[in-house]
Amino acid sequence: MSLGIRINGDQMRTARNRPPDSALRGDAPPPTPVRAVVVGAGTIAGASHMPAVQALRDRVAVVGVVDVDDGRARDFAARWSVPVHGTDLRDVLGRCAPDLAIVCAPPAQHRELVTQCLDAGVDVWCEKPAGISLADLDAMSRHERPGGPYVSFVAQHRFGAGARRLREHLLSGELGRPLVALCNTMWFRPPEYFDVPWRGRWATEGGGPTLGHGIHQIDLALSLLGDWTEVRAMTGTLDRAIEVEDVSMAVVRLESGAMLSVVCSLLSPREESYLRFDLTDATVELSHVYGYDNHSWTWAPAPHVTDSERVRSWPPTDPGPSGHAAQLAHVLDRLTTGERPESSGTDARRTLELVTAIYRSARTGLPVRRTDLTTDDPFYHSLSGEHPGGTSMTTTSEGEG
Ligand SMILES: NC(=O)c1ccc[n+]([C@@H]2O[C@H](COP(=O)([O-])OP(=O)(O)OC[C@H]3O[C@@H](n4cnc5c(N)ncnc54)[C@H](O)[C@@H]3O)[C@@H](O)[C@H]2O)c1
Repeated sequence: MSLGIRINGDQMRTARNRPPDSALRGDAPPPTPVRAVVVGAGTIAGASHMPAVQALRDRVAVVGVVDVDDGRARDFAARWSVPVHGTDLRDVLGRCAPDLAIVCAPPAQHRELVTQCLDAGVDVWCEKPAGISLADLDAMSRHERPGGPYVSFVAQHRFGAGARRLREHLLSGELGRPLVALCNTMWFRPPEYFDVPWRGRWATEGGGPTLGHGIHQIDLALSLLGDWTEVRAMTGTLDRAIEVEDVSMAVVRLESGAMLSVVCSLLSPREESYLRFDLTDATVELSHVYGYDNHSWTWAPAPHVTDSERVRSWPPTDPGPSGHAAQLAHVLDRLTTGERPESSGTDARRTLELVTAIYRSARTGLPVRRTDLTTDDPFYHSLSGEHPGGTSMTTTSEGEG
């Protein structure tokens, strides 16, 4: 059902993959799957995106793959039976007429690749991070149009049943008021992990575990707790031979008044992704590493909550694990209706704003408020605070960031 590449996304959106009325009545074949191209045929494309596409094969098909490395594009196409491959994005978009681009290239490439796809009228689901600066993200957003095409970013932990259930409880007030939260990404990456040329450098990876790894947990925490107002942070490069940090620690004040602690480490041999939410009526904890199911969550009542039936009703009843397939299903739903997907626009920006503020606070030794992240701030342009051609804002003496 793809209508091909159009500059005017609105035109495509109204008809794309929406079942015709006759299909809804049950007297016609089901709608054609969404046509997707994969951009960047590396690790995450094969390990996570293609299994997600296969799990949803009735709804989406990969019709093209692009990689600057011709051998990788060719191998990927052969392995996953993708009909079109190439090294030039514009050429592959032209040959495939896709509805959706799944961008899995390294972070510094996201801005250019996403922009090209949006300009071609193609919706984008781009791997995290949402660019390597707020400037990148804002530049991409300027190429969206009302009604689409949109760019949303991978945030696969928002979409599991546990997170959705907790979000409902936070909105309804079922668990009371959030007061204290922990958000720990205690991961381990050996020195050779940084042998990949784009890793560990400001110019290509954009940052260390705060931007590249802890962002999963930060995004989940903020998607539940809402806006933040102020952060104080420190970073360190304690063990790996890299430009960026290998650990960061931050304390965050949230608009609700609650307080959040954020730790992002790549130096932690027993790995854990741990989030804890202390509300007036309950403690909710999530412990996993790279993906969760309902067993990863615990829901504990405060001593004054004695209604056992109420407590039993807290966990989710559907089994939905977190992961790329869960988010892809959401992206496809929104593509069909023409609505903006979650983890896009201001929703995605909030996460990158907090990440930016952590780097800025660590470098300057000063607290950072959201209002400090203006377009003339060096950290708006680069998380190192060293905008090419601009001035550095480093005032702290530790020099560990
Ligand atoms: N969501 C997650 O859990 C998760 C996990 C790992 C990585 N990632 C993200 O996925 C992205 C890719 O990571 P990876 O580990 O797969 O990297 P990778 O190095 O294994 O693969 C990247 C691929 O992109 C290709 N590429 C580079 N520039 C390109 C361009 N301009 N056009 C087309 N292809 C290009 C490279 O040749 C390579 O094949 C990064 O943004 C990373 O942060 C997300």
